[in-house]
Amino acid sequence: MSEYAIVLPEDFDQSCFKLIGKEWMLVTAKNQEGVLNTMTASWGGMGVMWGTDVAVTVIRPQRYTKEFIDDSEMFTLSFYDDTFKQDLTYLGSVSGREEDKISKTRLTPTDANGIPYFEEAKIVFICKKLYKQPMNPEGFIGDAKELDEQWYSNKDYHIMYVAEIEQILVRQD
Ligand SMILES: Cc1cc2nc3c(=O)[nH]c(=O)nc-3n(C[C@H](O)[C@H](O)[C@H](O)COP(=O)(O)O)c2cc1C
Repeated sequence: MSEYAIVLPEDFDQSCFKLIGKEWMLVTAKNQEGVLNTMTASWGGMGVMWGTDVAVTVIRPQRYTKEFIDDSEMFTLSFYDDTFKQDLTYLGSVSGREEDKISKTRLTPTDANGIPYFEEAKIVFICKKLYKQPMNPEGFIGDAKELDEQWYSNKDYHIMYVAEIEQILVRQD
């Protein structure tokens, strides 16, 4: 069992560009029946909204994980060493709707007060949902309208979730 330190958001000094964009993260939630699902994400952000520290994640409507996030007040964003990249690749290419994909990885489900993540995580953001909104194609400005064509040819616009960061856990090696 890993030991984690609780780090305040203002003291968290790792690059979210690197963590989210390069290393990727798992978005994990448990439904009311206690079943969990997870998926890989490499888009999102960390910041401040409504006077509180927040994490943002964007989920396409067809993701099975979306059903779990919608069914739960809380979810986690978790980050892993490079050695788990193949597991994150798998969790980001197969749906939990099709198979018990987590059992095919080296990740071990655990939880913090019932909020799920995986024992192998080096960093865990425990998040409480505050706001959700589907991307609106009319929101793209000027040349950025190309992004609509580039990313949403199927009109499967991401749903943006803004969540309060309740706790950041950083593994102590
Ligand atoms: C590197 C990587 C990044 C991804 N980022 C996102 C993302 O930010 N949002 C999203 O909706 N899907 C993203 N995906 C796709 C989902 O992880 C993928 O469709 C997954 O199989 C969904 O699983 P689920 O149906 O069990 O939720 C990403 C996949 C990979 C490999």
